[in-house]
Amino acid sequence: MRVCVLGVGHVGLVSAACFAELGHDVIGLDDDAHKIASLQSGVVPFYEPELPELVARHISTGNITFTGSAAEGIAGAEVVFICVGTPRKDDGAPNLSHVQAAAASVASHATDSTVVVEKSTVPVRTGERIRQALSLQGQARGSGFVHHVVSNPEFLREGSAVRDTLYPDRVVVGADSDRGHAVMRELYEPLLARHDCPYVATDVRTAELIKHASNAFLATKISFINAIARICELAGADVHIVADAMGHDARIGRAFLNAGLGYGGSCFPKDVEAFVHIAAELGYDFGMLRETQRINIQAKAWPLQQLRRLVWNLADKEIAVLGVAFKPGTDDVRDAPALDVIDDLIAEGAAVRLHDPVALDHVRDRFPQATFCDKAEDALRGAHAVVVCTEWDEYRAISPTRLAELLTYPVVVDARRAWDPSALEDAGLTVAAVGQPQVPAPGL
Ligand code: UGA
Repeated sequence: MRVCVLGVGHVGLVSAACFAELGHDVIGLDDDAHKIASLQSGVVPFYEPELPELVARHISTGNITFTGSAAEGIAGAEVVFICVGTPRKDDGAPNLSHVQAAAASVASHATDSTVVVEKSTVPVRTGERIRQALSLQGQARGSGFVHHVVSNPEFLREGSAVRDTLYPDRVVVGADSDRGHAVMRELYEPLLARHDCPYVATDVRTAELIKHASNAFLATKISFINAIARICELAGADVHIVADAMGHDARIGRAFLNAGLGYGGSCFPKDVEAFVHIAAELGYDFGMLRETQRINIQAKAWPLQQLRRLVWNLADKEIAVLGVAFKPGTDDVRDAPALDVIDDLIAEGAAVRLHDPVALDHVRDRFPQATFCDKAEDALRGAHAVVVCTEWDEYRAISPTRLAELLTYPVVVDARRAWDPSALEDAGLTVAAVGQPQVPAPGL
């Protein structure tokens, strides 16, 4: 099938490459000329495992091409995916102007009736607005085409986006017309033939809600375990064991019960905020989600509280921060909890020494006063304490004795459970590990 993907950011490019892998004839369209030029030469402008190889392979098979011309991208497409950004507005609501512009562009350039698919995460009932935009622009142009609006949310995670797209837990398709459903089923047939998973066919509004409900639930699961972590610290229990034991219950499951610094990234913080806003607009006060947000903000303040407790004044201290990406496996620092931790440390007057295996370049401008270290050991050497903000494997590989040798004061604040706390203690380190019984400060 001829597929146009409008907006080749993270979600759009992964979707485009995966539909090319499934044998479709895909064209990626974006108004960012630099991005298009980079992709035309086979260079993926962000970090995502497996994606560069997939894009390169399908540039050579001819299954994928890229253009900056809306006329070229949209003409002849049977399906157009809208994958443009939905940034948050000041009041927390998503800004849907790019979505509206994308729909208008489809109506302006379509050469036949098409299926227009919302892939960007959008509020429930956005499908109706897209239909309106298509209709208004279609009338303005006098085209007479009847476009079918579909919601097909994605559930891919950064770092495993290609795998999540080709081997999803489920495919969700919301359409309000038989034609919309029929075209989407045909599009997904090659995926379903190689990977058997539930295919949820529903209406547009329900599909839109499935996406927000899923992300909000996962974020709430994380905040729940972070609240349990605080209680474990106060009560002298181990949240890791609590989570493992809870997870053995098939109704609960162990996934997304890792206590830590809270959720970050380009999705959960924005989507939870948007969902609170959407619910309020519909007339429902989603207090539970506001509590999820509150606990997440608290989680990010935890490292500073521990450092104040264990080291006292930070104004004359050097603090090593390991990890700035919002999670391992990505160079993305959007809403990364580490950024709040670093802000807190700088506000206390600490000298901050930063390391991350891939994401440092994205924070150089934001923290001009910080020291940027190419190796984790360089950040640790001579620091008064270390805070782990992202649980990269290479940090786990640092032995407790080496850690003790490198640090000036033996203080470790492990916000991501990168290390086994008892192994650190055996090496003579004082450890504040998230969700562990609180140890007294040295000398107290
Ligand atoms: C998330 C969802 O997992 C995807 O299903 C969804 O498609 C995507 O958002 C989206 O809406 O586009 P992603 O943002 O890539 O994917 O990252 P996650 O792996 O979900 O992690 C989000 C944050 O939660 C990270 O900061 C991570 O460190 C944190 N987290 C995750 C925890 O603190 N504890 C956990 O147990 C799991």
